[in-house]
Amino acid sequence: MLTATAVRSTVPGAPSLAPGGFGADLLAALGQRPRSISPKYFYDAPGSALFDAICELPEYYPTRTELGILQAHVADMADCIGPGAELIEFGAGSLTKVRWLLDALESPAAFLPIDISGDHLMAAARALQHDHPTLRVFPLVADYTRPFHLPPVALGRRVGFFPGSTLGNFTPAQALYFLRMAARQLVGGGLLLGVDLIKSPEVLHAAYNDAAGVTAAFNLNLLHRANRELGADFAVDQFAHSAFYNAPQRRIEMHLMSRCRQSVTLAGRTFEFAAGETLHTENSHKFTVDGLRDLARQAGFTPGPVWTDPAQWFSLHWLQAPTH
Ligand code: AVI
Repeated sequence: MLTATAVRSTVPGAPSLAPGGFGADLLAALGQRPRSISPKYFYDAPGSALFDAICELPEYYPTRTELGILQAHVADMADCIGPGAELIEFGAGSLTKVRWLLDALESPAAFLPIDISGDHLMAAARALQHDHPTLRVFPLVADYTRPFHLPPVALGRRVGFFPGSTLGNFTPAQALYFLRMAARQLVGGGLLLGVDLIKSPEVLHAAYNDAAGVTAAFNLNLLHRANRELGADFAVDQFAHSAFYNAPQRRIEMHLMSRCRQSVTLAGRTFEFAAGETLHTENSHKFTVDGLRDLARQAGFTPGPVWTDPAQWFSLHWLQAPTH
């Protein structure tokens, strides 16, 4: 298994405040009002493990619904992808869903899983390589929300796989930016994209407020991570998980809400939190099928077949990339 890495190096022991890193972004988030930070910082090793646990929760329908759609229609999806494809998975995580796709593809040329969470990705890629000994697997540790270079393997027609509705964690402008970047990277191929659909607020609310408290632990891990990696002094038990559906914006919002008036120190600076004040940690946008197809067109794709479940809770879209 070949590996390519795009992570920054840091001085051992020193919290990194490099621009565009967790430290710098958290400092900027704490210094602004309203306070908000990118959800990509959820995914250190404990956060990635907590996300895997979320995917197993009875309330968190997206993972099993998307997997059900994939299993039911994988042959049609493989037809769209075609033989000899080089498959690139964005935000690869644990590589559970892609196994179904790889099994259905005709002689895939290579598989490039890309994820920001290095150790998690490497472990998952090693396990996949073990089960597919003849497949060329090139894991790439990178932040795919920024421009990055794909290794010049170019073994076949490039096809992207972006499941899990991670597109919904971007702002609408970031989603369009990402899709435009993907359309250029996948010229001549296409993108198989999974997005969550608008549904009853009760179902949405429950999915982000599970009874076992796993989503709360996932959210609060951001503060543990800041204490571990950056030497911050968040009193984690003085913050509460808050998640609700913002209907006009068509998104779940997750926040960390201060339970009391308190101060936090990070990199020698002190920040005050009033009781009830929040750090906004995630948006999870929900889509309509037509809205997603319009967005894809704006990015340069030609929308093709769409597959959904009987309740129309989730959707997978084949998007044809430009030919040149
Ligand atoms: C990764 N992403 C699509 C998940 C979501 O549903 O927005 C992350 C998540 N946040 C809370 N639960 C799951």
